Amino acid sequence: MDTNVIHHIAEEYGTPLYLYDGEKIRRQYHCLMKSLPKKFEIFYSMKANPLLGICQMFKKLGSHIEVASAGELYTALAAGFAPGDIIFTSPGKSYEELKYAIDSDIYSINIECIEEAKIIHEIAKGKQKTIDICLRINPDFELSDASIKMTGVSSQFGIPQADMQEAFGILQSLSNLNIMGIHVYLGTQVLSADAIVTGMEATVKMALQLSRDYQFSLAFLDMGGGFGVPYFPKESPLNMARFKEGLAQCWNRYGADLSQARIAVESGRFLMAEAGLYLTSVLYQKQCKGSQYVICDGGSNQHAASAFLGRRIRNNFPMSILGKESDPKNEAIVVGPLCTPTDVIGQKVLLAAPVPGDILVIQKSGAYGLTHSPSMFLSHQLPAEVLYDQGRTYILRERGERKDFLKRQKSLF
Ligand SMILES: Cc1ncc(COP(=O)(O)O)c(C=O)c1O
Repeated sequence: MDTNVIHHIAEEYGTPLYLYDGEKIRRQYHCLMKSLPKKFEIFYSMKANPLLGICQMFKKLGSHIEVASAGELYTALAAGFAPGDIIFTSPGKSYEELKYAIDSDIYSINIECIEEAKIIHEIAKGKQKTIDICLRINPDFELSDASIKMTGVSSQFGIPQADMQEAFGILQSLSNLNIMGIHVYLGTQVLSADAIVTGMEATVKMALQLSRDYQFSLAFLDMGGGFGVPYFPKESPLNMARFKEGLAQCWNRYGADLSQARIAVESGRFLMAEAGLYLTSVLYQKQCKGSQYVICDGGSNQHAASAFLGRRIRNNFPMSILGKESDPKNEAIVVGPLCTPTDVIGQKVLLAAPVPGDILVIQKSGAYGLTHSPSMFLSHQLPAEVLYDQGRTYILRERGERKDFLKRQKSLF
């Protein structure tokens, strides 16, 4: 996006601000779509960015959607997704959430433990219905390159592969359930195409074997994804040509066995990360005991990932001072306005000498930005969120107000 455009938008909407680029969202979606065999469907993992307008954009692109809570399901339905294009995965779905998902008639509840399946069975029995379920499995294999491994290792996600015999024994005795799918999500932020293909091939083999062993027809195979983006200079982008080729070969081997099944990949980060900027204004600069601090109006309360929350590698997000990108001479510690020493959104960053009023731009902030941040901390108003697309700006979330923090609170007196 052009620097002048960013300037204008920051002036119009103020900072802190999340700014999304519609063209980049489209580009990433089409790039992933083109890398997949024809039969595959993309399910946008809205946990990466749950804004209604962003979900609507994915709907328009032809995506389906993966939700992880009743709140996300509510938003997905509001965004216009058909229930048949919604899947629900989370290790901790409450009774109310399961009931809401069943009442909404969504395509698949990806169950993560037997107790959850029993609750679904009880709800289904009460409605004299049979509910299709998909089993999320924690397989014995793992994804070698994942930044955060979800399965393959011990975790709260899915049912261990080693427990399948017992699991199928119980699940197949629950008459109001129909096992129709298998789901594996191995991890996130993977930058090796080969690792993703290897994980997917192992998933296909395991799913086919299970459907033979336990004689159920595999109508749905959710292969996860974990498609990563390079955040740091040393990281290379995922080689999508290689991924496409590897997956096509895998599909040549197994596609015929899955001709009746619906095949899903899930993606949040790959689709959204590159499309978002976080803009925060420089309030002050100060020296303290040999270090230079740049103090901004937004920090880890709105961009926790930039302060390393949930990240394995403690590298800075790419950031610069708007309009002074070519002059990064001064090493600075970039902090937000919070009263905690952990509110550091950039460690020893080379920046042009910032002056108060300058705008710091943090790139690659479209996924796991505000949604992944402790935004209640210290009661700073939520930032506005804006989409720029084909020469127009769309406000997706208005800036918060001070009074928002009193919403739903009850006065003691
Ligand atoms: C089950 C599941 N699906 C999809 C995703 C989205 O992952 P990503 O944003 O890396 O594409 C996650 C992320 O944690 C997940 O747990």
